[in-house]
Amino acid sequence: MLAVESKITPEQPVAPTLIGTSSWKRIVEPVEPFLDAVTKRLAEQVNAFDPALSQYAEYALTGNGKHLRPTMVALAANSLGTVNDSHVTVAAIIEMIHLATLVHDDVMDEAEMRRGKLTLAANWGNEIAVLFGDCLFAQALKLAASFPTPEICRAVASATNTVCSGEILQTRHRKNFELSQKDYFRVLQMKTGELFALSCDMAALLGNATPGQRAALREFGMAFGTAYQIYDDCVDLFGTEKKAGKSLGTDLAKGKLTYPVLLAWERATLEDRAALDALVQNWQPGSLPTVNKYLARYETLGTTLSLIERHLEQARQYLRSLPESVGRAGLLGVTDFLAHQTAALSE
Ligand code: IPE
Ligand code: IPE
Ligand code: MG
Ligand code: MG
Repeated sequence: MLAVESKITPEQPVAPTLIGTSSWKRIVEPVEPFLDAVTKRLAEQVNAFDPALSQYAEYALTGNGKHLRPTMVALAANSLGTVNDSHVTVAAIIEMIHLATLVHDDVMDEAEMRRGKLTLAANWGNEIAVLFGDCLFAQALKLAASFPTPEICRAVASATNTVCSGEILQTRHRKNFELSQKDYFRVLQMKTGELFALSCDMAALLGNATPGQRAALREFGMAFGTAYQIYDDCVDLFGTEKKAGKSLGTDLAKGKLTYPVLLAWERATLEDRAALDALVQNWQPGSLPTVNKYLARYETLGTTLSLIERHLEQARQYLRSLPESVGRAGLLGVTDFLAHQTAALSE
């Protein structure tokens, strides 16, 4: 059967504002040629799929992502030495894994928009999206198997397993206000921290880092990725779709309880707890402003922003053991940038 036509012709995608800001451009400027090479490598991957799937592959692989994980690969590599073609390949592999998880995540979240355009699922349906996400995982792992030693392929496969397991744990915890902070952070580390940690770790491996440098970069990636997911969870509650370039409010709609909501519940009176619980158990499209009222009443945004800053500070600490370099300055710049974006949420 021929591949079905796209349901809606996508409009000119709107770039998420993060990558449009001048401070972000300044951070990535030293690694721009690297990021261009990754974009090209990803576009070339379209040819690796069956021609009947080219429209999905092109749609997914040439999208408007921020390429944060490839940026981490480049900056981490630069913190130790120079980048080479293997770094480009590993960054493209990690971005493809990330993309596959997003394609599946959008099915689960019933999200309409991603990267400023319709999700693959909104365009071609859940069945195509699930199966094409599988194709993306498989192709990324095939590419990872092209390295001369199995170490990279093993690390990528293992991280992929961790990310998907994190998504499963999160699914099992839906609508569960008893979710402990320990469980919540474990999910964040697994579903998001892991790919940032892998990005830094693989850059270190390919850059012949000492075991100490490699461990420091991996821990940096984990702490940064954790902060990034808490930030993203705040964007889902307090941000705007236009700026984010993706559907928001899906966490609560799907019963995913994130830090500000868990915090409100922890601080709430018994009466407010019952009200929050009822809202989440019987979610309606117009429920978000009511939940936001409780989030404001218990001053959850400020505490969550401090939590993000604490993780970012921890991430910076890991970089202290590395020698001063343009790459290290870039990684520090990324943490400052996220701190700035985080602060902007409360404006
Ligand atoms: C979105 O990741 C999913 C999260 C882990 C929060 P990004 O914010 O990096 O999304 P893209 O790649 O730029 O679309
Ligand atoms: C991140 O979670 C998804 C993965 C790590 C796969 P979210 O559900 O918060 O991501 P967005 O907000 O849809 O990008
Ligand atoms: Mg989602
Ligand atoms: Mg989110």
